[in-house]
Amino acid sequence: MGTRVVAADEAGIAEAAAVIRRGGLVAFPTETVYGLGANALDEVAALGIFTAKRRPADDPLIVHLRDAGELGRVAARLGPVDRLVDRFWPGPLTLVLPRAPSVPRVVTAGRDTVAVRVPAHPVARRLIEAVGVPIAAPSANLFGRPSPTTAAHVLEDLGGRIDLVVDGGPTTVGVESTVLDLTSEPPTILRPGGVPIEELRAVLPTVVARQTSAQDARSPGTALRHYSPRARVDLFTEETPDERLEVHVRDRERAGERVAVLRLPAEPTEAAQELFAALRQLDATRPDVIVARLPPPGGLGAALRDRLRRAANGRVLT
Ligand code: TXA
Ligand code: MG
Repeated sequence: MGTRVVAADEAGIAEAAAVIRRGGLVAFPTETVYGLGANALDEVAALGIFTAKRRPADDPLIVHLRDAGELGRVAARLGPVDRLVDRFWPGPLTLVLPRAPSVPRVVTAGRDTVAVRVPAHPVARRLIEAVGVPIAAPSANLFGRPSPTTAAHVLEDLGGRIDLVVDGGPTTVGVESTVLDLTSEPPTILRPGGVPIEELRAVLPTVVARQTSAQDARSPGTALRHYSPRARVDLFTEETPDERLEVHVRDRERAGERVAVLRLPAEPTEAAQELFAALRQLDATRPDVIVARLPPPGGLGAALRDRLRRAANGRVLT
């Protein structure tokens, strides 16, 4: 299959909408990362997403809506939904809610819950509007690879495997949406992301973060060994001094390894924008190991730390 790239203008969006309507696969920009979209109400189309990404069938997809008014089409509204939606939609917050019967089982990986969000990116919103149905979309990377923040990243992983890419330039947030499960008590963050827990708690004080574990089945896509570059990642705590990192780099080089060092801006919003691109870029130089340091927690720091820990298979050095 030849993958076409179109501009994010009216003609490009109209073409993308037509492809999705006839059951095809289109990668498109959201404010977080590029998504790989298909008609969320078409079982066969949604199945195509799993094949293209080589994604295990037990990992459910996020359903993207044009606006909060559409929510009733795909999910049941639970208690605090309205307050959260008023404050955070459109934006990088995904809510896990009871599934409406219209959503095919493939999309929710057989669960009776469904993850939904309204993206803030104007191209994503115009695309959903043009298609006229909700769009199921995971991140547009091969399973296990860092999420794509540019159209070039999408082509790297999925070129030849999907119909179309809408090139809307680099995404602005850079890490995926926060996934908040409202079907559990207390409401639980299954994946930290673009909306920090501090902001969620300002609206819903009972929200808790879930500890990362390799076995957790509630959100299979968040299992460890995810977001992995090909290289090993040697990850250090935020307290580690520069000198310690330098010694580690020298030690590894002396051991015959090719070493790359991940440097991110100190400002968390900038670090989030650059994280996945930086991991891909370093990985492309084929190092044996990428040396990195955790950013401090708080705000977007939680999402950055989560993605780096996963890239490092949960192993943090001191
Ligand atoms: O920012 C984002 O969320 C991007 C853009 C494209 O919207 N999408 C994204 O999708 O990151 P994906 O599939 O790569 O990650 C979705 C996460 C996975 O960890 C999945 O397991 C979880 O959400 N998830 C989806 N449906 C769920 C459900 N019903 N219950 C629990 N977790 C769910
Ligand atoms: Mg993903």
